[in-house]
Amino acid sequence: MADVTLTIDGKAVSVPAGTTILKAAQGIGEHVPTICFHEHCTANALCRVCVVEVEGARVLSPACVAQVSEGMKVQTRSERVQRSRRTILEMLDSAVDLSEAESIQPMLKEYAADGERFADGARRDHPLLDDNPMYIRDYAKCVLCWRCVQVCADDAQYTYAINFGKRGFETSIATFFDKPMPATTCVFCGQCVGVCPTGALKPKREWLLQEGATPDEIMQATRAERRRKRKA
Ligand code: FES
Repeated sequence: MADVTLTIDGKAVSVPAGTTILKAAQGIGEHVPTICFHEHCTANALCRVCVVEVEGARVLSPACVAQVSEGMKVQTRSERVQRSRRTILEMLDSAVDLSEAESIQPMLKEYAADGERFADGARRDHPLLDDNPMYIRDYAKCVLCWRCVQVCADDAQYTYAINFGKRGFETSIATFFDKPMPATTCVFCGQCVGVCPTGALKPKREWLLQEGATPDEIMQATRAERRRKRKA
C-alpha cells in the first residue's frame, strides 16, 4: 500500500495509507489516551477520549478510527483537544464508579478532571449481579466501552450472550430479557472479563477476596456451587 506523509505535533511521519491516526501517533512515540479502543477488538469510537485536532477539520477526530491522509496536520495535545478530553473524563467520572479503572485513573489526574462537576457526582446506581460461579457484573462501574459485547460476539467468541439494554442514563450491558447468565448462551470463556477496563466484570474469586472472604470460604463456596450445578 502506498505511503502517506503527514505531520503529528510538528513531526513528519510516513505510514501506509489506511493507517489510523492513533497508530501513526504511536509509531512516533506520541501518547494518545484511549478507553474503548482495544488492540484485538474492532474500533468503535464510542468514548471519544482519543480525539485529536486535524487542521482544517470542523470537529475533533477520534484517532482510533480516523485514517491518515496526505499532507494532514494533526495536533494531539492542543488546548481544544485537552479541554474536550477533560470534559469527557468528567462526564464519565460523574456517572460511573471509576475507582478500580486502573487505565483511566491516570487520565483523570493528567487532565485534572473534576468528577463532581456534573450531577454533583451522583453516580449511576446499579445492583451488583452475582448470578454465576465464574464472575460478577458490577455495572455501576461500567463505562459502556462495548468491548465485552464485541468479544462475546464477532470479535472472538461468537456467543452473543450480552448486548446493550435500556436507553439514556439507564443504558447498561444486559443479557436478553435480563436473564441470569447461566440461562443465556454464555460459555464462561472469561474473555469479557479480560477486556473490561474498569472492574465492572471481575472473576468471582477476586471479588470474594475483596469482600473479605478467606481462601477456605472461597473453596467451600466453589464446592457448593459445583454440587448445585451437578444437581441442576
Ligand atoms: S478510544 Fe477512540 S473513541 Fe474511544
